[in-house]
Amino acid sequence: MKALIPAAGLGTRFLPVTSVIPKEMLPIGSRPALELIVEEARSAGATEIVIVISEGKELIRRYFSGESDIKIVYQHEQKGLGHAVYQASEFFGDGEKVLILLGDALVVGCNASKAMAEVSAANGGASVIGCERVPLERVSRYGIMKMAHEFDVAEGDAFELADIVEKPSEEDAPSDLAVAGRYLLDSKIFDFLSDQIAGVGGEIQLTDAIRRMVACKYPFFGYIYRGHRQDIGNPDGYFNALVSYRAKEGR
Ligand code: UTP
Repeated sequence: MKALIPAAGLGTRFLPVTSVIPKEMLPIGSRPALELIVEEARSAGATEIVIVISEGKELIRRYFSGESDIKIVYQHEQKGLGHAVYQASEFFGDGEKVLILLGDALVVGCNASKAMAEVSAANGGASVIGCERVPLERVSRYGIMKMAHEFDVAEGDAFELADIVEKPSEEDAPSDLAVAGRYLLDSKIFDFLSDQIAGVGGEIQLTDAIRRMVACKYPFFGYIYRGHRQDIGNPDGYFNALVSYRAKEGR
């Protein structure tokens, strides 16, 4: 298994500091957040890690320059997450799994990637999307999972995925399970991304390509990981990440 970490985004929600430091390199204790994400991928079994950066984020290249399992590719224009992922397509062969970890999403309290790899192995190599429960009043901020067969789910459960609904209203939400920063996808995703048209915000969205793949009956599971996603892409989220990381990991 190889991993892919998109870290080329503009970081506009965290300006002005992101004009000099990529948000992915903000410290969590003594280490950059991105290093914790790289470690998650390695301990989940990733043998090679591709980090997608932009020209303004050379600090990332410099920091990881001594690491033989890390490759850097560039996204020259910030056309969205799906477009960033596509820039790494040459590293992944047919039938391989692509473990995608968002560079600004720390998952505290578990190794979500490792658990997802186990779910995939137990389900014939299906693609797996990590998710977590969110309060109903916040479903409109996320991609929300629609289960193929509804049942009461808890942390640590996996379920067959029927669809993902982007930012639904409370009334229209098919569940309270939000897509949460970790994806283990069949490399077929690159075929879908290659002709993916721009969606919400004029950006090429990874979710749109996943939805088309699900509609084509590629097997997909959702997995509710036993931890919490902390979005370090904005000041409040970053502060919460620091507090919860210290509380959970003691450092
Ligand atoms: P976000 O949407 O949270 O990042 O993408 P952003 O675009 O930097 O956010 P703002 O709105 O400007 O603050 C989630 C992850 O995908 C990467 C980001 O670096 C982040 O780690 N990303 C996003 C890319 O690599 N390229 C893109 O074009 C967009």
